[in-house]
Amino acid sequence: MKVLVAVGSKYGATRGLADVIGQEIGSVGFDVDVEDACDVLSVTAYDAVIVGSAIYGGLWRRDASALIEEHADELKKRDVWLFSSGVREVKEPGYATGEAEKLTELVGAEQHAMFAGALDYDRLNVGERAIIRAINPPMGDHRDFALVRDWAHEIGVRLLFLALA
Ligand SMILES: Cc1cc2nc3c(=O)[nH]c(=O)nc-3n(C[C@H](O)[C@H](O)[C@H](O)COP(=O)(O)O)c2cc1C
Repeated sequence: MKVLVAVGSKYGATRGLADVIGQEIGSVGFDVDVEDACDVLSVTAYDAVIVGSAIYGGLWRRDASALIEEHADELKKRDVWLFSSGVREVKEPGYATGEAEKLTELVGAEQHAMFAGALDYDRLNVGERAIIRAINPPMGDHRDFALVRDWAHEIGVRLLFLALA
């Protein structure tokens, strides 16, 4: 059984979560590719697909949401899980919400999980710094790798059941 973990990440925090998810599912015994969503041309080689994205302005990274929208027909035939990562204090009036739920519905994904991300002010561009200064969210790395590993392990066990069925 071949598994794809595809991720939309601007500064690498969500990519770090995807790497851990890939390691954990690989440790259960599956053949796993972890790819940036923009590099995925097709999902047909995979039996199961996990797609995750950082949230910016309430939305997924465009490469990750486009991957789901453009390959929806193929994804519907596969086992799919989604995850988002963000710093929930970063919210402004008018920010879109519910995109991940819509994507979950679109492909009939098993589940959408929300994980804490990371904010490194020094790496942000001028526009992002202005937004972050106005909101003043907690800076730093809030990723809970143990939680993410547990989530990925559950997926691995579920895939094991499916593979044996
Ligand atoms: C300009 C900006 C806007 C953001 N908007 C949101 C948001 O709407 N909701 C949220 O939960 N996190 C938001 N975040 C936090 C990011 O999702 C978080 O830093 C994430 O871990 C970044 O992942 P990456 O390093 O993979 O790009 C925002 C961060 C920045 C810099």
